[in-house]
Amino acid sequence: MSGLFITFEGPEGAGKTTVLQEMKEILSAEGLPVTATREPGGIDIAEQIREVILNKNNTLMDAKTEALLYAAARRQHLAEKVQPALKEGRIVLCDRFIDSSLAYQGYARGLGIDEVLSINQFAIGDTMPDVTIYFSIEPEEGLKRITSNDSREKNRLDLEALHFHTKVREGYQKVMQRFPERFQTIDASKKKELVIQDALQVINEALKKIQL
Ligand SMILES: Nc1ncnc2c1ncn2[C@@H]1O[C@H](COP(=O)(O)OP(=O)(O)O)[C@@H](O)[C@H]1O
Ligand SMILES: [Mg+2]
Repeated sequence: MSGLFITFEGPEGAGKTTVLQEMKEILSAEGLPVTATREPGGIDIAEQIREVILNKNNTLMDAKTEALLYAAARRQHLAEKVQPALKEGRIVLCDRFIDSSLAYQGYARGLGIDEVLSINQFAIGDTMPDVTIYFSIEPEEGLKRITSNDSREKNRLDLEALHFHTKVREGYQKVMQRFPERFQTIDASKKKELVIQDALQVINEALKKIQL
């Protein structure tokens, strides 16, 4: 009984959270044991670590300190919630995981993918995802979905956001080249119903390969 660990990755607004909730409902309705989570996953220690990261008074926070704290919060969520669920043979669907750190902090923020990978490998050991679904979408499209008023003119922040998101996508591309056997890319620009179908197909394929 080793369960199935599936992570959802991709840029903001790609539909990860929406589709993950749908997957949980569909698979649960089939009677499958599903745990849907995201970091810090309601884990008290991980929440406390996140508070330190997000506290606006911590203006002296060094980028490496931040990366280590994220890895620490990830470790706690993994040890307290993900690993026990996998041990019970559950399907764990996790909204973002190690690859977000690699793409955002390692690449887009410039810490280095290798550096961020090494601290995260210490944090998670061999509990890497079995499958990672990458929600592929143009950064503009993703951002459009999350801005409340699409018709407003682009201001400086939007453009900055677009530049950053373009870097994030480059980062994900590098990460995918690194772990080609684990990643399954789906076209997240399609209609919600179609994206859900594609995600479900990936999960069903993965389920076929294991005995829960
Ligand atoms: N395939 C889709 N087409 C259009 N809008 C979508 C689609 N999937 C999700 N959305 C909407 O886009 C927004 C962002 O979705 P969300 O699931 O929060 O993205 P993420 O978690 O990847 O940031 C939400 O308002 C959601 O309802
Ligand atoms: Mg989300």
